[in-house]
Amino acid sequence: MPIQTAEELFLNELKDIYSAEKQSIRAYPRVTKKITSDDLREAVEQHLEQTKAQVERLDQVFETLGKKSGSKTCEAMKGLIEEAGELLDEIEQGPVLDAAIIGALQKMEHYEIASYGTAIAFAEAMEQDEIQQLLQQTLDEEKQTDERLTGVARDVNHEAISGDAEEEEDDEEEDDSEAEDDSEDEDDSEDEEDEEDEEEEEKPAKSSGRKTPAKKSAAKSSKK
Ligand SMILES: [Fe+2]
Ligand SMILES: [Fe+2]
Repeated sequence: MPIQTAEELFLNELKDIYSAEKQSIRAYPRVTKKITSDDLREAVEQHLEQTKAQVERLDQVFETLGKKSGSKTCEAMKGLIEEAGELLDEIEQGPVLDAAIIGALQKMEHYEIASYGTAIAFAEAMEQDEIQQLLQQTLDEEKQTDERLTGVARDVNHEAISGDAEEEEDDEEEDDSEAEDDSEDEDDSEDEEDEEDEEEEEKPAKSSGRKTPAKKSAAKSSKK
């Protein structure tokens, strides 16, 4: 059916989101099975429950509009899930796969965030306050999930990277940290001496021309 009016476009967007949510619900359990990180599994399991409630919210939206949710397939979400599926098949279970899963899930979240943002703007323009609130609730959850995944990624990515070449990395890290420690020790001892005498020069102490930067910053602050 061709889209001619703004209302039809809005409805089309809602049907797209509805399909995206339903596809996610079917996809999450398959993803969860392959997860190693407890934090990640918990995040996905919780979002699965959230997503079920999001579908119910959309049911409410369709009810309010007096329309049916329809049988539209969100091709974008279908593609994102397919890509996630490829990663699940290709990568061995472990931190690297977890890192890949987070990336795939965040792409799904960002698609939803964009879609809900569009739908909310429409609802607002159409003065559909109740619908706007329902959609906003879901958008907030999508954003929270995205942020949570970013948080989990910090640990997972670190594990994935350090697991890549553990021995090589260990050697390099030792060398690096020794070199850094040496230089820092020198700096620190000088800094400490300076601190006793002139506390104000603490920051510029790292560069060689100590008095000049201190004078410069003093000049800057006096200009303000
Ligand atoms: Fe969702
Ligand atoms: Fe989501």
